[in-house]
Amino acid sequence: MARPRLAVRLRNIAWRGSTLVRGWQLRWNCTAVGEGSSSLGRTIVAAPPGATITIGSRTHIANISEGTALGISHPTVLRCLTPEARIVIGDDCGLSGTSVCAAIEVRIGNRCLFGADVMVFDTDFHNHPPEGRRYAPPDWPNISRPTIIGDDVFVGTRAIITKGVTIGDGAIVAAGSVVVGDVPARSIVGGNPARLLRMLDPVSSETRHAPAD
Ligand SMILES: CC(C)(COP(=O)(O)OP(=O)(O)OC[C@H]1O[C@@H](n2cnc3c(N)ncnc32)[C@H](O)[C@@H]1OP(=O)(O)O)[C@@H](O)C(=O)NCCC(=O)NCCS
Repeated sequence: MARPRLAVRLRNIAWRGSTLVRGWQLRWNCTAVGEGSSSLGRTIVAAPPGATITIGSRTHIANISEGTALGISHPTVLRCLTPEARIVIGDDCGLSGTSVCAAIEVRIGNRCLFGADVMVFDTDFHNHPPEGRRYAPPDWPNISRPTIIGDDVFVGTRAIITKGVTIGDGAIVAAGSVVVGDVPARSIVGGNPARLLRMLDPVSSETRHAPAD
């Protein structure tokens, strides 16, 4: 049965209103958010005093299954674990139910696309020696290394990008991969652990990204 027009309009107004509120929530909780960035549903943002989380312009974060192609299993999480930590997300990125966790630094470039439920972190979270591991505070410098993702990187759904990894510009990470080593620019990597599958064609003048609207 067709929905009454008024109900549709009211729903759309409520939807836009809640998107606006979520945008404010993102701006309130992050250190800086650029023009035109938005959060569809509530992004979980957590950082101790001193840590910074910055998001560039026109970056869109989806936190509800209705707003993504595949659906997601949880909202996006942007979490700094130490007062020195920073998370930097560039311009024109798209995140869907992505977990980003930093003890030192996770940096994501411009125009990156993250499929549903990707995880990116720069730490092992727990100490390696078993003695006292359960209750000892994490020895962050020994279990963390910055994770850096370049520009125009496409990460397939449910991939995991672990500590100390650098992903080159334009690379693709296949769905479900576990990335534990550096990824060359313009390559496709996949599997667990992720290995080089092939290189993308060399850049041509036509395929250079168009400026954002
Ligand atoms: C990585 C990807 C782009 C490769 O696509 P493609 O170039 O058409 O790849 P093909 O299917 O021709 O496979 C090429 C090789 O990669 C391997 N491969 C493809 N996907 C893989 C994966 N997820 N993990 C491991 N290996 C993979 C294939 O087995 C094949 O290996 P072979 O040459 O030894 O037989 C695609 O498989 C993928 O993972 N897309 C991500 C989709 C996604 O998650 N989108 C986000 C939606 S929200």
